Amino acid sequence: MHRREFLLSLAAAPLFKSNPFIQGIASGDPLPDSIVLWTRLESPQLSSGLEVEWILAEDEGLKKIVKRGKEIASDDLGYSVHADVKGLKPARWYWYQFRCGGVESEIGRTRTAPAPGSQDTLRFAFASCQHYEQGYYTAYEHMAKEDLQLVVHLGDYIYEGGISANRPRKHNSPEIVTLNDYRNRYSLYRSDAHLRKVHQLFPWIVTWDDHEVDNNYADDKEERGASRESFLERRANAYQAYYEHMPLRKSSLPRGSKLDLYRRFDFGKTARIHVLDTRQYRSDQPCGDGRKPQCPAALDPSQTMLGETQERWLMNGMKEARQTWNVLANQVMFAKTDVKPGDGQEYSMDQWSGYEAARQRLIRNWREAKPNNPVILTGDIHSNWVSEVEDVAVEFVGTSITSGGDGVELPFAEANFKKENPGLHFFLAKRGYVSCLVDQKRYESNYRIVPVVTTPGGPMETRAKFVVESGRPKIQRG
Ligand SMILES: [Fe+2]
Repeated sequence: MHRREFLLSLAAAPLFKSNPFIQGIASGDPLPDSIVLWTRLESPQLSSGLEVEWILAEDEGLKKIVKRGKEIASDDLGYSVHADVKGLKPARWYWYQFRCGGVESEIGRTRTAPAPGSQDTLRFAFASCQHYEQGYYTAYEHMAKEDLQLVVHLGDYIYEGGISANRPRKHNSPEIVTLNDYRNRYSLYRSDAHLRKVHQLFPWIVTWDDHEVDNNYADDKEERGASRESFLERRANAYQAYYEHMPLRKSSLPRGSKLDLYRRFDFGKTARIHVLDTRQYRSDQPCGDGRKPQCPAALDPSQTMLGETQERWLMNGMKEARQTWNVLANQVMFAKTDVKPGDGQEYSMDQWSGYEAARQRLIRNWREAKPNNPVILTGDIHSNWVSEVEDVAVEFVGTSITSGGDGVELPFAEANFKKENPGLHFFLAKRGYVSCLVDQKRYESNYRIVPVVTTPGGPMETRAKFVVESGRPKIQRG
């Protein structure tokens, strides 16, 4: 808030003694005619049932207002606001602002998806894994300067752990379990100005991985074997806090410990983004957790990563897509990647390789149904990997924003991994994000890298660029 506005609000009887919009503003889930606007009030003086106004305009100065409305922010949903603004024009920028108790939020910018027949180029970045304690959000500082239409987040937006020693920043509580714990953790992450800025500038499409709840959880099972009841109670807290803090439609409102997060977005005839949830419906890790050879249970056809309903939804949605690119906003690595140097094979059992039967079902389906150009985007493992998935798909694994700290250059490891995995084209364990340019002919991924995250600031470089041509699932160096 600007100082002048704050003083004005003090002139009238003030409802707030401090800025209630300190968690920022956001927008998301763009459709050709609709966008979700988000904010959450945070103030020591909140009373229940506060009316929050929003306006949406065609210009940055908010002169040409085209829509306005009101939402009630209440205690039971953490004073969050999710306004679903309809009746908008496709493929255009809009600016918006919230007002409550005489206080104005900052002005945000957002953009609708293109019309169904559009052949517009899609420019977006994807990111994941932003452990607050392990570094500064310099990658977001650079992302904010890019010419993007959208940001896709693949999960690990927060981490659930307690406070660690000797880290550049500190968590604000022991391991989070209650609804208040989770809310408090989102407040901490949103205290970062670079993160807030990227929300303010672009619409986001979000999905989660494990750390929004608990490390490597699977459906109703947590890693250390808490009872099902107590874990589902914790999951309900985590899912509610996730909904409260993300620019999601009201249709994503959780019901107890369930929240249907998988959904899809069309960007004209260029790309269809299938947003996956690989945590909520998966079987328990068939071979247990960790890195090991695939055990026979990974091949058991009853094993699932997406759950039956989501798996069918994905296959149908890919087959029916008239878009050139079927983009999967996925969490865990899909390409079967041997990470054991030398003799023998080891795979990460939390990833699709630990659910080989489910992985093969999708590959078989893509060979038979021949959906247009599957491109898998992945987070989770705090490193970059670029792979061809047999002869049917490509996978771009982005690295973390901060998780894992500064990271390392491992040219020998890259050479070794490539030797063991013929489909692998790139490996790097530095921090950053991936910026994509997608048109009717090409899918281009730019690997943006920052040298350090344990101290703030610093440059960004494009370490590598990869291109895939439509109709040919092969990775080419750009
Ligand atoms: Fe992570």
